[in-house]
This record gives sequence, C-alpha cells and structure tokens, in this order.
Amino acid sequence: MAILLDGKKTATEIKAEIAAEVVQLLASGKRAPQLAAVLVGNDGASETYVNNKEKACREAGFSSRVLRLPATIGEAELLATVAALNADDLVDGFIVQLPLPGHINEQKIIEAIAPEKDVDGFHPLNAGRMVIGLPAYVPATPAGIMDLLERYKIATSGKNCVVIGRSNIVGRPVANLLSQKSYPGDCTVTLCHSRTKNMKEICLQADLIVAALGIPEFLKGDMVREGAVVVDVGITRVPAANKSGFRLLGDVKFDEVAPKCSYITPVPGGVGPMTIVSLMKNTLKAYSRQWGIKN
Ligand code: GUN
Repeated sequence: MAILLDGKKTATEIKAEIAAEVVQLLASGKRAPQLAAVLVGNDGASETYVNNKEKACREAGFSSRVLRLPATIGEAELLATVAALNADDLVDGFIVQLPLPGHINEQKIIEAIAPEKDVDGFHPLNAGRMVIGLPAYVPATPAGIMDLLERYKIATSGKNCVVIGRSNIVGRPVANLLSQKSYPGDCTVTLCHSRTKNMKEICLQADLIVAALGIPEFLKGDMVREGAVVVDVGITRVPAANKSGFRLLGDVKFDEVAPKCSYITPVPGGVGPMTIVSLMKNTLKAYSRQWGIKN
C-alpha cells in the first residue's frame, strides 16, 4: 500500500517554520507581513479558500485583510481597488481570488497587479520569469506540490512525469517546474489534456502523475503502473447528505489507484494545505524584498 504524502502534516510543519520567522521579525521591531485578498461575489468555494488563507495567516502571525466586493462591481472599480493595494506600503502581497464574474476581464485585472506584489504568480512577468528559470513568484499550488515532493525526498531526476490538465494555475506551471534542471525536477514531462489520445497508455508509462484536470475520479486504477507516485490536485464539490451538503472528490479514484502507488496524496489533506503555505512563503518573500532582507 502506498505511503501517504501528508500535505496537512507537512503544511503544519512549514507554517510553524514561517511563524518562527515572524516571531524573529517582530522581536527585532519590524511589523508583521501582510497578505490581502480580494473576493468578488459570493462563490462558496472561493469563500472557503479565502477563509482558509485568512486563518493560516493568523496562525503564522501575519496580518491579513480581505476586501469583499459585490459581484456587480464594475471593472474600473476593481482596477481602482488593485491600484490602491499596489500603492499601499503595508500590503506586502495580495491576490484577487478567481474566478471573477463574467463581465470582468480576468486577464486585465491580473496584469494590473504590481508584479512585486503578485504572490499568486499569475502576472505574465512572473509566469515568464518562472518559465525561463529566473527568480519569480511561483503559483501556490505548483510550488506546494514541489515542496511536498522535496519534503518526502521523492526521486524525480530522469523520471517520466505525466501532468494531466493544462491550466495556467496548475497544469502548465507544474509541468514547467518538473522539467527544469533542478530538484525536484529533471523529469521528462508529458502534458496531457482533453484532446490527448491514448491517455491510458501515456499514464501507464509514468513514474509520477500529477492529476489537475478537475474531473472527479478521472484517474482509474488501470491507468497507473505499479510503484508510481500520484499527486491529486482535484477538489470538486459533489452533493452529499452531510452538514455542509457536499464532499470533496479528487481527480484520482483513490481506492483503485492507491494500492498500486509508492506514494499518493489524499484528498482532502494533500495538495490543498500545501497551496496555502506556498502563498504565505511568497508573501514572506515579498515582505523581505520590501524590507531589504535577503532571501
Ligand atoms: N482560484 C483557484 N485557485 C486560485 C489561486 O490559487 N489563486 C487565486 N487568486 N484564485 C484561485
């Protein structure tokens, strides 16, 4: 049976390391790092993500700010909010939670964020710098996956890696990072998507599979070879007869896949908690730049 890549435990450890750094900063008379989040409308999943980010910030001694704006807000008004956060010296980094309502041009908003405060790493400058291997803010989910692989000392050099899903937030950046000349990295990466032929045959060649397509239980047991490492990025809400009215399903059919794996992430408690600490690491990086502290 596979070893669980325990994101919850690893994230707790990293959060404690970040909290210790914050204690040192405060002891030397500096202010706490600040992360701000802009939440437009009241999408349930986005609310949950932002609440979790706020809670994690509190736990690590960051200050945090959530700007809740109505779904009816105009693009110009949202751009003005972004400009105000860019100009606010107390805000080290901020995110605009996606997706945005349909009448707002998401890309225009992302490009309005000052790259040095873009702790999501979605601005083209950060995305481009990451692709060519320059220091950049790396999107939180891919960064969290890389940290998890590193903390569990998963061998990646020369391995066949299959990434399923080509989103700008996860699939493409993680495929890029895994192909870079570094550890974790040095993989031979295949990026699969909805038009891929022979998905099963390709997956069966993989030493490492990152499933990030957003289709619950897509990756079945017969698509995974013995000893593979599987990282499940999916968190789809499906209706359930419990208090919240839903439960979370990953992109991996866990019961079938786990018995074949050497390592696998659970859902929940795998990639999700790692994502939040990566965002905090990026915020600390943004803060340190502002204070002239080398990192
Ligand atoms: N929506 C889903 N994931 C993310 C994320 O990492 N950042 C932002 N801003 N929105 C998201």
